[in-house]
Amino acid sequence: ISVDATTFALFGALGDLALRKLFPALYQLDRAGLLHGGTKLLALSRDPGDPQTHMATIEQAIRRYVPDADIDEAVMARFLGRMQYLTIDFRRREDFVPLVQMVAPEMPLIAYFATPASVYGSICENLAHAGLAEQTRVVLEKPIGHDLASSRVINDAVAEFFPESRIYRIDHYLGKETVQNLIALRFANSLFETQWNQHHISHVEITVAETVGIEGRWGYFDQAGQLRDMIQNHLLQLLCLIAMDPPSDLTADSIRDEKVKVLKALAPITPEMLSQRVVRGQYASGSVNGKAVPGYLEEENSNAESSTETFVALRADICNWRWSGVPFYLRTGKRMAQKVSQIVIHFKEPPFYIFAPEQRSLISNRLIIRLQPDEGIALQVMTKEQGLDKGMHLRSGPLQLNFSETYKRSRIPDAYERLLLEVMQGNQNLFVRKDEIEYAWKWCDQLIDGWNRLGDTPKLYPAGSWGPVASIALITRDGRSWYGDL
Ligand code: BG6
Repeated sequence: ISVDATTFALFGALGDLALRKLFPALYQLDRAGLLHGGTKLLALSRDPGDPQTHMATIEQAIRRYVPDADIDEAVMARFLGRMQYLTIDFRRREDFVPLVQMVAPEMPLIAYFATPASVYGSICENLAHAGLAEQTRVVLEKPIGHDLASSRVINDAVAEFFPESRIYRIDHYLGKETVQNLIALRFANSLFETQWNQHHISHVEITVAETVGIEGRWGYFDQAGQLRDMIQNHLLQLLCLIAMDPPSDLTADSIRDEKVKVLKALAPITPEMLSQRVVRGQYASGSVNGKAVPGYLEEENSNAESSTETFVALRADICNWRWSGVPFYLRTGKRMAQKVSQIVIHFKEPPFYIFAPEQRSLISNRLIIRLQPDEGIALQVMTKEQGLDKGMHLRSGPLQLNFSETYKRSRIPDAYERLLLEVMQGNQNLFVRKDEIEYAWKWCDQLIDGWNRLGDTPKLYPAGSWGPVASIALITRDGRSWYGDL
């Protein structure tokens, strides 16, 4: 891979995301030889303290979040040697003057906004005023707004200074290896693509379950909730990648055009349908992996009145020829029994049945795409049980591909490593276009409006469980069950 030299300016360099994810990812890119020798890193923050102290904080974060085995002192020295720290108030025009001195005029400038979205517009304006806009690619972190209207305000403020072709909106799920593999799996294997429709698939499940709680982010999370924090972005992106038509090529816009068609085809869920189609939950105290944990309303800095959801399960329907009559069941929550992100494609039963009737319930082909942990793909197929005494007894077993076992050589890179590399290369494929964000908000807004109109309150579930019982009813009502609950 050849990567040109860039100046990488990280706004919000002392924030949690930068320390936990972005600097470790940049370090890993350097270690892998993927940062050009001329690439410079600018750590930008409002914090006035001593630059040396801040650089030490960044170094400590890298040592903490990168596995020990990957710490190479020579790489660390080279990496820190690329870095300069600058105190800068993102809203003050004059603070951008020293920044201009640090930016090499002949190189692309990557401006990564790991800041609240409320300052995106000011940063863009100040970059433009400083004469840096032409060479800049801007990278926007989520959340971009909390509904369609507020996301438009933010996107419009950025669009005043930057064309869409230089705006990179992050959804870190798109950087996960297995998520990118969805494109390879679907469009490099005619085996699957010919089956990928309502004639052969009965339903699809997408589960993103986390064991963590709010992790000290109560203030942010309580304003957002699980629908805005996870469904509006990560789960709808996964749904799009599963449901979209084959793009005509791999260019960013071809892929995004197909994703947008899916979002536009999502059937609205009206307030009357909410009770049958959507379940909101909030975790109560319980135990996760054998450890007692408090409920959402007992977390640090919490407000005991909150009715913010920490869990959502819903049934989405896509109104087009390919998916008519194929429900997509989505489920995501905090403090669940197990950390697992997986997509399960359930194929229809064979059209005619020749085996013993009592075995009928066994018969089902499923494709299980495990995003994390244990990244891999398993195709569940029916075979005959071995042995003279078994007759034609069926059993279901996996044809399995475990990525880390099969491709032993390679460490699975963190999503941010991939995304940062793509920005440096100027590839927008793994970033979200403005209209995708807007259609996703539009669909989520109607759910939130419905909840508000009905005064809906979330159902409690014990931490360490699979969510409220109602989320089981959501799928069993259709004669199905969540795969592997476990
Ligand atoms: C983030 C959400 O976007 O994704 C967090 O804001 C969530 O609430 C996280 O915990 C999950 O990401 P991952 O990669 O750990 O599945």
